[in-house]
Amino acid sequence: MTEAILLVGGKGTRLRPLTVHTPKPMVPAAGVPFLTHQLARARAAGVEHIVLATSYLAEVFEPYFGDGSELGLHLEYVTENEPLGTGGAIRNVTSRLRSGPDEPVLIFNGDILTGLDIEALVSTHQSSGADVSLHLTRVEDPRAFGLVPTDSTGRVTAFLEKPQTPEEIVTDQINAGAYVFRRSVIDTIPAGRPVSVERETFPGLLSSGAHLQGMVDSTYWLDLGTPQAFVRGSADLVMGRAPSPAVPGRCGDRLVLPTASVATDAKLTGGTVVGDGVIVGEGARIDGSAVLTGAVIGAGAVISDSLIGAGARVGDRTVLSGAVVGDGATVGADNELRDGVRVWCGASIPDAAIRFSSDQ
Ligand code: GDD
Ligand code: MG
Repeated sequence: MTEAILLVGGKGTRLRPLTVHTPKPMVPAAGVPFLTHQLARARAAGVEHIVLATSYLAEVFEPYFGDGSELGLHLEYVTENEPLGTGGAIRNVTSRLRSGPDEPVLIFNGDILTGLDIEALVSTHQSSGADVSLHLTRVEDPRAFGLVPTDSTGRVTAFLEKPQTPEEIVTDQINAGAYVFRRSVIDTIPAGRPVSVERETFPGLLSSGAHLQGMVDSTYWLDLGTPQAFVRGSADLVMGRAPSPAVPGRCGDRLVLPTASVATDAKLTGGTVVGDGVIVGEGARIDGSAVLTGAVIGAGAVISDSLIGAGARVGDRTVLSGAVVGDGATVGADNELRDGVRVWCGASIPDAAIRFSSDQ
């Protein structure tokens, strides 16, 4: 049985400024903490034992997921005192692994939403005899990622993390953040100090002649690094574009959690999620957005591609597009906030204070 390590630590794990206390993996996407989707997909692919490698606000994971039995998993948690980097985090959990030296161990970045065929990655790994196999995806702008060129057989020829110069952009294939390691290769990562798997381990393995195999596919893939991407991912889960067995209820145009109260003439479209205890006023229109627990949306508000934090309030007739409203923040009535705006947690914008459209 394949086991897995899920990386959910590091410095960028908080979804600021949306939630100060909630690390990104625990922010709800399609009604459940984002991490649930990754855990459920791994379980569906036959993984039974998962070690969560955490370094930051780790104490929020265990009370929620416990021993994992509700998901049919055996979950363990390992917390770093200081972030050890991606490679250091992997090395740090080896005492919890049960696989033999030649057996495959799956490793996932914790901030990716993907339709990856996990079993296909494992079988590619087995049939190629590789030391490490990597899921690769193609993106238009690879600069924020690890570039992974391969030869005609799919064998990895280089690993270039976050390329800086145009000459370094040699491919549009990037590291999609899911690997299969032969167990014995994990044991070669140095222990007790920070190690980047992308900057140190992969280039080191390549220069020592190890076999790294890439599996490129065009399945759904999204890095949830920004709040906007998080909203997109949540909507894609609701609409079934991003496959996950953990979406509560049937996939469709909207997901309304049972304790929400939505006015009968309100329109919810484009994969909008309305969380527990949310109130949506008369005539409000919400498209492709995530409205988290206990938020209140006023009558006639028009919201698209936005994230409305837990307990936030959006006033009557206010227009939000591509906005992030932090937990507990208030945006008064008759405002208009557009692309990229982030309202700090708990902040308050008075009625009729901000607009983008010209005088009428
Ligand atoms: N436990 C632990 N400790 N986890 C960590 C640490 C750490 O010190 N540092 C990072 N992580 C986890 C993050 O929580 C995330 O789930 C994953 O490792 C990747 O780290 P990010 O900080 O999100 O890296 P990135 O997004 O800039 O780049 C990575 O992902 C890209 C795909 O989205 C790299 O793996 C790139 O090569 C890749 O293309
Ligand atoms: Mg990331």
